[in-house]
Amino acid sequence: MSAASWIAAPGAPLRGEVRVPGDKSVSHRAIMLAALADGTSRIDGFLEGEDARATEAIFRRLGVAIEAPGAGVRIVHGVGIDGLRAAEGPLDCGNAGTGMRLIAGLLAGQAFDSMLVGDASLSRRPMGRVTEPLARMGARIDTGEGGVPPLRVHGGAPLTGIEFDNALASAQVKSCLLLAGLYADGETVVHEARPTRDYTERMLAAFGWPIEYSPGIARLRGGHRLRATDVRVPADFSSAAFFLVAASIVPGSDLVLRRVGMNPRRTGLLHVLRGMGADIVESAPGHEGGEPVADLRVRHAPLRGIDVPEAHVPDMIDEFPALFVAAACAEGVTRVRGAAELRVKESDRIAVMAGGLKAIGCRIEETPDGACIGGTPAGVGGGAVDSHGDHRIAMAFAVAGQRSSSAITIEDTANVATSFPGFVDLARHAGLQIGESRRAGPPET
Ligand code: S3P
Repeated sequence: MSAASWIAAPGAPLRGEVRVPGDKSVSHRAIMLAALADGTSRIDGFLEGEDARATEAIFRRLGVAIEAPGAGVRIVHGVGIDGLRAAEGPLDCGNAGTGMRLIAGLLAGQAFDSMLVGDASLSRRPMGRVTEPLARMGARIDTGEGGVPPLRVHGGAPLTGIEFDNALASAQVKSCLLLAGLYADGETVVHEARPTRDYTERMLAAFGWPIEYSPGIARLRGGHRLRATDVRVPADFSSAAFFLVAASIVPGSDLVLRRVGMNPRRTGLLHVLRGMGADIVESAPGHEGGEPVADLRVRHAPLRGIDVPEAHVPDMIDEFPALFVAAACAEGVTRVRGAAELRVKESDRIAVMAGGLKAIGCRIEETPDGACIGGTPAGVGGGAVDSHGDHRIAMAFAVAGQRSSSAITIEDTANVATSFPGFVDLARHAGLQIGESRRAGPPET
């Protein structure tokens, strides 16, 4: 076992061009639907991160042949909607909540039993949000004590479509139910007062499954088939977010992010940063794999605090660690409300960001569903922060280090590989200063 840590310190202004890796949400779904399709699908731009690879490994274990002829390329030989077969032993989702929740929906509709497990972080995350509605559909799934993993999914339970109100504004819950709905009798309908990312809906349509959807509603019926199709995965807006914030807060920066996925359900941070005064210009709009993409040019600009509109919360749910850093470097106060979901991400992102920001001299008060952050345009202080193994928190503090009075040491950074392999190299290429160290931990017992 080894524990990785970083030392982040002010580097050069961010300059030049970067292209961040493929979208994590799209990569998971591309493997799943290609695996269940009739025929062979090619995926380009697949995220070579641990989360998406865990999903890929699970489908291999379920009998799907997947070739990896090059980095970011997968050739998936679909087995058809009823072609999965039982795996020996538990299926390991690693750190990925998306993997576990979506796969639970698919496995609920199979004839065989399965067991889903995850790492220490995933093993603490709530699964009742999917197992309860799945039970209403007829699924039989046992959880660990308190509704956490492992999930023991009993096969052979006939499913019936339900009408569901997605009050948590969770795309994972919506997607889980839609995927179970592929195997259900009748119609599965998900309503959303606060619309969430719609990749499952878009991709089901691209694979030829009849589905009706618009912001706030998705409905489909079981009993169709998926047709193989090629998927081009756009660059992940959530990975681009760290560069948007870094270039905004480091004087002299002028950076271009190429072909970033611009699905409107993902770009809330762009609106909020612009509301804070950020200088971000979109150009060359186009489409990749049915998703809108654009180049984003971001130049340093003084930021001011903002009341983050609650309506944007689902559209930027993964971007709060980066936003908190922008807020810490802005003039005035930033208030976040309606974001209690942050407490059940890879870590409790409100508590862990508050702990880290306090450790580097920032003023931040936690609330049950958000925080109040007092910014300082001159930047943050130095010190040591613990990312609690949360990839996005580690990257957010690496960004903070670029605008700090002295170095920030960030502990427990290995999980950055779950979503952003190559982050340190790409960040250095853009001008960030990040040193790495890896020390031996206690031997595993
Ligand atoms: C995701 C949905 C979001 C997000 C996660 C990916 C997805 O989770 O935080 O990183 O791919 O559907 P919730 O649906 O729990 O909000």
